[in-house]
Amino acid sequence: MIVAIDGPAGAGKSTVARALAERLGFRYLDTGAMYRALTWLALKRGLPLGEGAALGALARDHPVTFDENDRVFIDGADVTSAIRRSNVDRMVSVVARHPEVREVMRERQRELAAQGDAVIEGRDIGTVVVPAAAVKVYLEADPNVRARRRQSERPDIGADALATDLKLRDEQDRARMEPAADAQKIDTTLLAVDEVVAQIEALVRARAAA
Ligand code: DC
Repeated sequence: MIVAIDGPAGAGKSTVARALAERLGFRYLDTGAMYRALTWLALKRGLPLGEGAALGALARDHPVTFDENDRVFIDGADVTSAIRRSNVDRMVSVVARHPEVREVMRERQRELAAQGDAVIEGRDIGTVVVPAAAVKVYLEADPNVRARRRQSERPDIGADALATDLKLRDEQDRARMEPAADAQKIDTTLLAVDEVVAQIEALVRARAAA
């Protein structure tokens, strides 16, 4: 069974998806980390981020991999922490919007999805990558709360700059951020992680029993 968890930055996707995967004994796939790792590599090589064909080729030649502890690797480097810094936050939408890049990433994501039970988080999982996912959830939250949550994970940037970055990224990601028509929307603003996980787990159990 595939559980698709989509939504904007700071809505709680990673924390919830990871905890849910653990509870269910499913694999966990963070598709945002794939776009982030590619962005990190493009920045490291000084590649122009406007050139979709070159970035698509870079993605094809350097697959992003995950180990059993969900550490993220590209081009032989462990980039788990490097991809969570504000320089990558700022540029990742620019890289992710190229159709050539998305084609490579989506192909890999579908290969991973085809390997069995998984919780997959991203922006377009329920709409494009796995439209047949058994359970689709779209997490959302108040923008101020999203910025506050992100702040605790970004010691390298001030609160105001972070809120602005988040707003800009929402605008850039908007085209890919539509919830699937059949996704269950959950507003996490006032919910604890455990409550969100429990809600999705109930959806999964109901679906498995059906
Ligand atoms: O979820 P995140 O913040 O780690 O995602 C990083 C960026 O990658 C996000 O700004 C948009 C992009 N992304 C995407 O376009 N499609 C996905 N399935 C996942 C992420």
